[in-house]
Order: sequence, then C-alpha cells, then structure tokens
Amino acid sequence: MEGSKKIAIVTGGASGIGKALCSELVYQNVFVIIADINDAEGKLFEKELNKNSINSRYIYLNVTDFKSVEGVITDIFKEFGRLDYLFNNAGIAMYGELYDMTIEDWIDIMDVNLWGVINGTQIGYLIMKEQGYGHIVNTASAAGLGPTPVSSAYSTTKHAVVGLTTSLHYEAEDFGVKVSTLCPTFVDTPIFEEARAINLNKNVIMEQFKKQKMMSPQKLAKLTLDGVHKNKAIICPMPLRRTMDIFFTLFPQAHKGLMRLVCKVSRKARIS
Ligand SMILES: NC(=O)c1ccc[n+]([C@@H]2O[C@H](COP(=O)([O-])OP(=O)(O)OC[C@H]3O[C@@H](n4cnc5c(N)ncnc54)[C@H](O)[C@@H]3O)[C@@H](O)[C@H]2O)c1
Repeated sequence: MEGSKKIAIVTGGASGIGKALCSELVYQNVFVIIADINDAEGKLFEKELNKNSINSRYIYLNVTDFKSVEGVITDIFKEFGRLDYLFNNAGIAMYGELYDMTIEDWIDIMDVNLWGVINGTQIGYLIMKEQGYGHIVNTASAAGLGPTPVSSAYSTTKHAVVGLTTSLHYEAEDFGVKVSTLCPTFVDTPIFEEARAINLNKNVIMEQFKKQKMMSPQKLAKLTLDGVHKNKAIICPMPLRRTMDIFFTLFPQAHKGLMRLVCKVSRKARIS
C-alpha cells in the first residue's frame, strides 16, 4: 500500500477541535474518518469535505463502547490497508465541586474522556505496531498538566490521558509507532456550552469563560499538526500556558494564589 493516501481516524470529529483537525488533515492530503455520535453534524461535515473530491467519510462511533471502537478501527484498517493517524479526541467537560457530584457523574466523564481514549489507543496501537508505523494523538488538556479546581473530575481524566500517552510515547518508539498528547488551554468550541454544570449556573460560568482569550480551532489544528510532524510527546500550543509554566515554576506561591482565585471565582456560579 506504499504510496497510497494516508488515513486518519478522528474521534469527536464532527465539532470543534476534531472538526478543525479533519479539515487540516484533508488540506494535508490525508483521507479522514470523522468518527462521532453526532450523525447530523458528522454527515453535513462529510459533505462539506467531499465537495470537490472524496476526502472523508463519517462513521457513527461511540468511543465509550470498546467493541464498537475495535470494530470501526479494524474495519478501516482492513479496507484501506493502513492506519497513519488515530486522533482520540472525543471529550466532554464537567464543572462542579466534588461534594456536589454523584458517582454517575464520575462514570460519565471517565467513560468518554478516559475509557474513550484507552479504547482507541488499545486497538490503534496493536494495528500500528503490527504495520510498523503510525501516530496516535490523544487529546488531553492543560487541565491534565496541573490542578483545575471546581473541575477536578475533568482534570482527573486529562491527567490520566497525559500519563498514558507520555508513557506510551517511549514504549512505542522501538516499534516505529509515534504517540503524542495534545494539551490545549482555551479553544473556541461548543464544549463550554455543552458542558455539564453541577449545581453551578451555566450563564455565570459562560460569562467567566468569555473573559478568556480563546484560540480558534483552525489555528490550534495547524499548530497541533506541526507538533505531530515533530513527534512531540506533549503538544501544548498556547504560548500563555508555556509562559505560565515558567512563571509558576519560579514563583510557586503565585500558582497557589491563582488556584485559590480560580476556586473563589468558580464558586460565584454556585446555585445553592
Ligand atoms: N475547547 C477547549 O478549550 C479544550 C481545551 C482543552 C482540551 N479540550 C479537549 O479537546 C477535545 C475536543 O473538544 P472540543 O472543544 O472540540 O469539544 P466539542 O464539544 O466541540 O467536540 C466534542 C465532540 O466529541 C463528540 N463526542 C462526545 N461524546 C462522544 C462519544 N461518546 N463518542 C464519540 N464522540 C463523542 C461530540 O459529539 C463532539 O462532536 C476534548 O477531549 C476536550 O476535552 C478542549
């Protein structure tokens, strides 16, 4: 199959960051599988990407279901004879204090954000190891690199994704497989509107988020693929994040102060 078009699977490909990654991959001459649970948006987007030539296919895929993930990835590999990229990107957000959460909230977010990534990685890695090449990109978050008060469940899932991905980055090297984690900060996507807010007023949270400087998903996608081509273990494309890392390493007290401020500001959205 050498010389044939590269193949990418992008979970959560029907919206936000996943959608922008699909567009950028097509621009870079990669055939993309848009894998999502949003049939309406996924099919529309497939049509848009295929306007001039066939560059993509939408497939319904719920990443929480291992058998479905195994089926889709295996079928795509069998059909195309290769799997160049797997972006385990589907994710949901959840805000709330731990004492307001139920165990069902935990299960819901762990299922999508962590098990969804594990399910894809488990199958994608075996296939790529066998073919001797390929690149897995797992979307975590800046919330996977440090504390995120009043979003501790989200932060838990993203820390786990960073741990899994950075470990596998080295484990996979000997087999020709590349593995990277994407850690964005604020990207302008529907995730904030869609998020589950537990005992918090969504409007107040949205007002707080609107004060953040957001990066466009298109810009993020370009920077992400630059990081992928450089085989970075952690792709952290927001300059503010890097500046803050240096600042907080030098001044840890300032970090504590910021985290306490995040708590205080987030609690202003409490309903009861
Ligand atoms: N937007 C940000 O600021 C930001 C920052 C850091 C990390 N992230 C991460 O980036 C990823 C993409 O987020 P986004 O901002 O583009 O959000 P988004 O809401 O725009 O897109 C998420 C997509 O995932 C899909 N999805 C949800 N559950 C699914 C499931 N079970 N199976 C398959 N698909 C499912 C949704 O239908 C949607 O199309 C997430 O993992 C998110 O945690 C986002």
